[in-house]
Amino acid sequence: QVKTTGKILQSPCGPIIHGLEDVLIKSTSISDIDGEKGILWYRGYRIEELARLSTYEEVSYLILYGRLPTKRELEDYINRMKKYRELHPATVEVIRNLAKAHPMFALEAAVAAEGAYDEDNQKLIEALSVGRYKAEEKELAYRIAEKLVAKMPTIVAYHYRFSRGLEVVRPRDDLGHAANFLYMMFGREPDPLASRGIDLYLILHADHEVPASTFAAHVVASTLSDLYSSVAAAIAALKGPLHGGANEMAVRNYLEIGTPAKAKEIVEAATKPGGPKLMGVGHRVYKAYDPRAKIFKEFSRDYVAKFGDPQNLFAIASAIEQEVLSHPYFQQRKLYPNVDFWSGIAFYYMGIPYEYFTPIFAMSRVVGWVAHVLEYWENNRIFRPRACYIGPHDLQYIPLEQR
Ligand code: ACO
Repeated sequence: QVKTTGKILQSPCGPIIHGLEDVLIKSTSISDIDGEKGILWYRGYRIEELARLSTYEEVSYLILYGRLPTKRELEDYINRMKKYRELHPATVEVIRNLAKAHPMFALEAAVAAEGAYDEDNQKLIEALSVGRYKAEEKELAYRIAEKLVAKMPTIVAYHYRFSRGLEVVRPRDDLGHAANFLYMMFGREPDPLASRGIDLYLILHADHEVPASTFAAHVVASTLSDLYSSVAAAIAALKGPLHGGANEMAVRNYLEIGTPAKAKEIVEAATKPGGPKLMGVGHRVYKAYDPRAKIFKEFSRDYVAKFGDPQNLFAIASAIEQEVLSHPYFQQRKLYPNVDFWSGIAFYYMGIPYEYFTPIFAMSRVVGWVAHVLEYWENNRIFRPRACYIGPHDLQYIPLEQR
């Protein structure tokens, strides 16, 4: 018996819960969402608290290991992550060869390539193939998880450099995860507020229970395939416009609108039957203001206060938000701005091209993906649902020349 507010399709074999909405796939202690109240917790900590006081390094440790690190543990973790930032030369070639492709393709391929060349991964694959997953293998799996978190920014930044015909900028050991990413991308000392913005964005997206990408990672991992392959599958799922990508579309909309004076008209158009949906508004789980959106809105405000808002993006978004919050259409359907409503504004002014917005999402969510896989491996069972066959049976084969 599954309780769902989603769509039930009738079939000869029984009801089908379309898109598995509300179907539970496992128990988890990684993150929790209260969609009615608009609350998000990682390992029991409120997102607001972590956003205010923590860093992505600390949050990723928390998500991976289940508790906040001691000072010493955090230092060791950060040092290990710095050691893992470099890529295998073959992976760098894969990225170079995909310089003209969308960076999500390059990310997917580069993660798979890195997995092919990681000796720890080969050892783990061998152990898993004979059903061994004990203390030694778990240690390998956690090391691989750390490597994946550490390497993602390098892949994204290298792709950006190759795509612009530039030489890569190697990672710098004296910079934190977010600042080093900006440094590798633009090749100059990053502005502290921009680094803080990337860090904040990474904190806010680190985990979100089991959306499509995280589920995809579970499906692959449940076959006892490896962690790199599971993350490559998750990246493939994140790439779709129904999952990652709305922040890019929201910013494009603001640029097209051009002035806050048009907000009312745009919002009104979105309420008409068949009208264009307002990007960055609404959420499958949140029926209240997305807590991550509140936090990133504040950051975006600070960012444009320091660097200006020549394209009026923050002003346009604020005007749209005001219209949305006071419009009966959105009130009745409990549609509020989500995190994507605000996150692209600062990225745009940092000079990050649109196509890198979703890869940055992946850079953050990778820790959620691997933590969920490791959690699932503690009690693994291959995912193998069923489908209700509604085609014919026992048709007679007609040879080609008689058709
Ligand atoms: N603008 C206008 N109307 C909307 C919007 C919107 N952004 N979102 C939902 N609605 C309306 C629907 O038309 C529908 O109206 P109806 O009841 O009259 O038919 C009603 O609200 C319910 O919408 P659904 O699409 O059924 O809600 P669902 O939970 O399936 O979709 C989703 C959620 C996909 C996020 C949707 O709100 C949407 O498309 N939003 C815009 C895209 C977006 O911002 N995506 C980012 C999500 S957050 C993230 O991925 C980090």
